[in-house]
Amino acid sequence: MATPFPDHPNLRGAYAPIHFEADAYDLIVEGEIPANLYGTFYRNGPNPQFAPIGQYHWFGGDGMLHAFHIHDGKVDYRNRWLRTVKFNREREAGRSLFNGLNPLESDPSVHGVETDGIANTNVVWHGGRLLALEEGHAPFEVNPDTLASVGAWKFHDKLRGPMTAHPKMDPETGEMLFFGYGIDGMLSNKMSYHAVNRNGELTRSVFFDAPYAAMVHDFIVTRDYVIFPIMPLTASLDRALAGKPAFAWEEDKPSMIGIMPRDGEPEDIRWFEGDPCYVFHPMNAWNDGATIYCDVSQYRAAPLFPRPDGSRVDPALAVAHLTRWTIDMSANTNSYRTEQLDDSPCEFGRLDERFAGLSYRYGYMLCGDRNMQGQGYTQIATVDHQTGNINKLDLGIGQLVSEAIFVAASEQAAEGEGYLLSVVHDGATDKSRLIILDAKNIGTGPLATAHLDHRVPLGFHGNWKPGDALTS
Ligand SMILES: [Fe+2]
Repeated sequence: MATPFPDHPNLRGAYAPIHFEADAYDLIVEGEIPANLYGTFYRNGPNPQFAPIGQYHWFGGDGMLHAFHIHDGKVDYRNRWLRTVKFNREREAGRSLFNGLNPLESDPSVHGVETDGIANTNVVWHGGRLLALEEGHAPFEVNPDTLASVGAWKFHDKLRGPMTAHPKMDPETGEMLFFGYGIDGMLSNKMSYHAVNRNGELTRSVFFDAPYAAMVHDFIVTRDYVIFPIMPLTASLDRALAGKPAFAWEEDKPSMIGIMPRDGEPEDIRWFEGDPCYVFHPMNAWNDGATIYCDVSQYRAAPLFPRPDGSRVDPALAVAHLTRWTIDMSANTNSYRTEQLDDSPCEFGRLDERFAGLSYRYGYMLCGDRNMQGQGYTQIATVDHQTGNINKLDLGIGQLVSEAIFVAASEQAAEGEGYLLSVVHDGATDKSRLIILDAKNIGTGPLATAHLDHRVPLGFHGNWKPGDALTS
């Protein structure tokens, strides 16, 4: 008998897990789905199967994929858990055995059991494979049609260590570029950088040491440089063994941004030092010669994690703003410039991915009101970096938006000509809906809305795969 879930902010309301897997064909749609929108929008997020063992963290729940297949002006939907080792062992036991983030809190019966993670953070299509990603492990392959789990994918056993949930797709070469951290144990400062060619073959791996062990959630790649932001959400095995937080915000440590030429070696990495800050997600970065520009959602203090002594971080500091870093590789300095571009709380920056790593005009992000009274973001924003204009669509109180992804109207369409897709949770009905916006004109509201009969729990990231899926 499965036991009730504990009361936890990330297990109730819009975050509460759902307990079923479903196929829904031809959802009820208001408005008109653009005829040229043909493909599948996959989303990933935590959805624990059973009441957690030990302390629960939002990042530690079993991954569940949600797929919206859009074709012929219609939307079909399917959701499936990722059948990881953890998921299967727990289904057999009828209860949680593994703590998703802290193995020290797992059931003694599974100590030492090697797992393939929880696969709960992102989902990407590359090299003919759909990969569910979570930064502590190798990718987890999934059938793009049925969402059936295939299992860990290590690029023909060439991948050593985990892979970030935020690889970058190079729009010019078709490569997938990624890093790993904690490669000799989650709490170590050992990192890796890898390149996978457009056919899905791992072609390059290099290894290096970060200045200190930290949670490194994302990175950035430009045409000429790879950028590794190491920020003081530190990792410590000693702390964990003493019963203190394994990951904690250490406000007296500097941020260190490592920059390596794309074809460089670890010894070529230059470290730039700045004030302590945290970034989960960049929007984009590019370089103009030796000058690198990075647009990021920057927090003054890391949210969601305590200080080393377990005390809470000041919530007023744990709010992100769109910020530009400018780094001059030709100057004889190890510092860089930061400039806040907007004063709204924001997160989940994205762009027209055809401009990833390149000079770009349009970015997309989620925003909240200034004091972030709600449990999440209620606004979708488009940023015009050329004019500085930021347009916002506010869905209203109780309407929580998820990361908005851009889909180009066609391969030839100009930058920003296309659609924004986002899943919105309605707090009043406890149901979710897919909205499709005209990316150039979000203010007029959705072009189309596809309604689900249930909640898609607030999760993390999603991506688009053009063409067929959910056909079988
Ligand atoms: Fe993320």
